[in-house]
Amino acid sequence: MGGVVATFDFIVVANRLPADCTIAEDGIAHWSRSPGGLVAALEPVIHGRSGAWVGWAGLADTPFEPFDADGVHLVPVTLSALEVERYYEGFANDTLWPLYHDVIAAPGYHREWWESYTRVNQRFADATARIAAPGAIVWVHDYQLQLVPRMLREQRPDVKIGFFNHIPFPPYGIFSQLPWRRQIIEGLLGSDLVGFQRAADAANFSRAVRRLTGTTPDAVGTKVLHVPISIDATIYDELGKREHVRERARDIRASLGNPRKILFGVDRLDYTKGIRHRIKAFGELIESGQLEVGDVVLVQVASPSRERVGPYQELRDQVELMVGRLNGDHSTLAHAPVAYYHQTFDRDEMAALYLAADVMLVTALRDGMNLVAKEFVATRSDLDGVLVLSEFTGASDELRRAVLVNPHDIDGLKAAILSSLEMDPAERASRMKSLRKKVFSHDVAAWSAKFLHELAHTKENP
Ligand code: F6P
Repeated sequence: MGGVVATFDFIVVANRLPADCTIAEDGIAHWSRSPGGLVAALEPVIHGRSGAWVGWAGLADTPFEPFDADGVHLVPVTLSALEVERYYEGFANDTLWPLYHDVIAAPGYHREWWESYTRVNQRFADATARIAAPGAIVWVHDYQLQLVPRMLREQRPDVKIGFFNHIPFPPYGIFSQLPWRRQIIEGLLGSDLVGFQRAADAANFSRAVRRLTGTTPDAVGTKVLHVPISIDATIYDELGKREHVRERARDIRASLGNPRKILFGVDRLDYTKGIRHRIKAFGELIESGQLEVGDVVLVQVASPSRERVGPYQELRDQVELMVGRLNGDHSTLAHAPVAYYHQTFDRDEMAALYLAADVMLVTALRDGMNLVAKEFVATRSDLDGVLVLSEFTGASDELRRAVLVNPHDIDGLKAAILSSLEMDPAERASRMKSLRKKVFSHDVAAWSAKFLHELAHTKENP
């Protein structure tokens, strides 16, 4: 044992590594890009620095040695199958996820899930403490790792610790359900800086601190900030201008039978995304004859996510039943109302779909940010396409010139779909222009620069 361990001045700590491993039938490990907006947002941040990334490779019971990939030192944290079940699927995604998203699904509170969460957070903190250079900057991410700041601080008082929460932070009336609410708050207060997507999230956190500790974050040396995450807008802008992507967008249209209009939704298959509300509204418009099959099509990509967690399995059944019924009742031999894909597409294909869409539907019931909305806008340098955006997304704070909707209001959603489909080109262009200005003026580089600047300027630890 032993040997010299390399240390780093800049470390990202997130539940997932940027690469996910799967073992093929031939026993060979295949690495692919990890799902979700977090990795997409952080990749450009870490590539600019020679740093390390501590995270899980996505497989149970499979230890990997640290390795370098694209100039980043990856430090895999191993999870047992039981920990995947209790820490990841259980506490992270069946307790915290629904609790932090307005209890859209009922959170489960199980002591063995909490114990597993604590143990795994300790493992992440230990792995980070080992590789942090003196005075290093450590940036911890998201709800899976809220205990890491305190655990790391105990071992390494010399490092600067920032924490960014990618999902909403709930109002105290909801947060207070959590049997381990005090431990979570104390865990986060190990940070020098805690960042949130929206002003409301930051206010909810500060209130929880006051209610549970009788003091303020500032008084214990933790600064609270809200700074919305974004995307690398130029990548999407450039993709949208490439000839092969434009060609592919035309092919997609043709393969759908050249409908007059395409509605498009793309989400992880998650109950927070309002996929059922979207299909319901569209289905009623088809049923009432306000929209015609063949004239308008809804393309819905629902990428597989957390497939062993109960509410996700139920959601898949519900969505597929709705799509099956709608298509069964209304398809002609030439056209179906919904083109549904339970698949994940690469970035080029996504860009082509964004370009092919006339109306992009983002109808989340609650969403920390929603980067898909920003990707759509960044791709549309042609100033065409309409964004229908739920007011319950973080993105709606910035993207005020989208067509804003309350997805619970099905009649309102139907009206927004109809008016977006018929919006005149001058208004489409004017709205898209102002949306693009927003996305380009605050891209992912601005987000990380702001967070890291604030972190660097927090007070020295006593
Ligand atoms: O932003 C929310 C988030 O949970 C990220 O932490 C994560 O990378 C992404 O969604 C995808 O979820 P999962 O890692 O559970 O597949």
